[in-house]
Amino acid sequence: MVILDFGSQYTQLIARRIRELGVYAEIVPFATSAGELKAMSPKGIVLSGGPNSVFADDAPGADPAIFGMGVPVLGVCYGMQLMSQLLGGRVVPGSEREYGRAEIKLAGGSPLFAGLPDTLEVWMSHGDRVEELPAGFSPAASSPTCRFAAMEDVRRRLFALQFHPEVVHTGRGREIIANFTFGVCGCEKNWSVENWAETAVAEMRRKIGGGEVLLGLSGGVDSSVAAVLLNRAVGERLHCIYVDHGLGRLGEPEEVERMFGGVVGLDLEVVRAAPRFYDALKGLDEPEAKRKAIGRTFVDVFAGAARKYRHCRYLAQGTIYPDVIESKSPRKGPSQTIKSHHNVGGLPPDLKFELVEPLKELFKDEVRAVGRHLGLPDELLDRQPFPGPGLGVRILGEVTEEKVKILQQADLRVQQEVRKLPQYRKIWQTFAVLLPCRSVGVMGDRRTYEYTCVIRSVDSVDAMTADWTRLPYETLAAMSNRIINEVRGVNRVVYDISSKPPATIEWE
Ligand code: XMP
Repeated sequence: MVILDFGSQYTQLIARRIRELGVYAEIVPFATSAGELKAMSPKGIVLSGGPNSVFADDAPGADPAIFGMGVPVLGVCYGMQLMSQLLGGRVVPGSEREYGRAEIKLAGGSPLFAGLPDTLEVWMSHGDRVEELPAGFSPAASSPTCRFAAMEDVRRRLFALQFHPEVVHTGRGREIIANFTFGVCGCEKNWSVENWAETAVAEMRRKIGGGEVLLGLSGGVDSSVAAVLLNRAVGERLHCIYVDHGLGRLGEPEEVERMFGGVVGLDLEVVRAAPRFYDALKGLDEPEAKRKAIGRTFVDVFAGAARKYRHCRYLAQGTIYPDVIESKSPRKGPSQTIKSHHNVGGLPPDLKFELVEPLKELFKDEVRAVGRHLGLPDELLDRQPFPGPGLGVRILGEVTEEKVKILQQADLRVQQEVRKLPQYRKIWQTFAVLLPCRSVGVMGDRRTYEYTCVIRSVDSVDAMTADWTRLPYETLAAMSNRIINEVRGVNRVVYDISSKPPATIEWE
């Protein structure tokens, strides 16, 4: 199944829902031509929603030839309005946006709604609406505020919904998507991560042939799964570099060495470079300056180590599907840099590698499932995200080795306590931050004058927005007691109760 992306925040969800049904789905930019689509031989096409009005000057369009390919098409929200407009219906601008739950009545007999009751609760989010159907179409559902909540031309196999079947608020949405995928398009259930993993190993083996591959291992989920998959494909012709920047969690480099060098048996070089990072950070307290210094040093250290592996033709990266979509999305405009993230881009010109990105078709939860299939332990796969610059962005002001040591100890206790919670896997991130200011306390009979540690924990689905986790008081109390009693250098612990926006998840 192919999904044309018109920029809706739910586009990825459509692909996920279809994949959950056991059918492979891929997202392509809205401007993909009918010819290019034909070359992909899709069983069905979905036009996603989008934030625009079809009346906007820069409204994204679609190749009208798509509707004549003989392939079933499902338009969702913006996709419905665009379909109407391109096929000669009449769309009118809404005076106000209809947003939220609505109840629709089915006209009956539509293959899209087979097996569903006469009324359905759905999630609407639209401004414009279809006022007159294009020739050949009939109404398939209506709501009190929306005469055409769904329309169809069964003969040409063209369908459209004014609501979003892909979100959970549309209770029977999965069945609607399943009806389209299996009933209308005739797809077969043949996509699973296990199958995918076996095919991907074979494909990597074919692509890489007798070549050698270099991979930058970060200890995070994506690069770890990529490493294990490539190890399956090419064995000892995979070489991994782990840069110990001295800004990781307590014991992280040793853990990576034990797990990947020892248990998994990768050819792993650990580059101990902490002093170079501390040096680069000396005297810097401005967040962007610190991020840039860490990014630059990382590239320098990685490039230095990679020179030894010049015989490698390939450089492997753990890029995953959301990264790929993000870089192609019509939403991606010249946005303001809030924080500069770094990766292994920008290697010096004498290092020419071809990129291999074995995970670039997978969503995060699928990456985890592949990792599980390949035998990686849950403890690694369930890890929370950890930023590339590590504790460098969690120590406010100048980063010193002494402060890194304090924060590592505090963070260890935060991790140990939060992992005890049954809801641990539902939390996006939980960590400690060290503030540069000190305050007065009393311990025993003595005055103390030490640092303040912040606990930050957030719930989020994609890190774009986040709310602070309502951690149980007992957990917060245990974290606070343990940090103050066991970590030298901290005498005060506070909990960050800001959401994103307007705050961000990390403090820098
Ligand atoms: P913010 O602080 O922007 O963070 O709300 C959003 C998510 O991104 C992570 N993060 C990073 N990840 N390199 C990364 O790989 C970075 O430079 C970086 N900065 C922030 C952060 O932990 C959160 O999950």
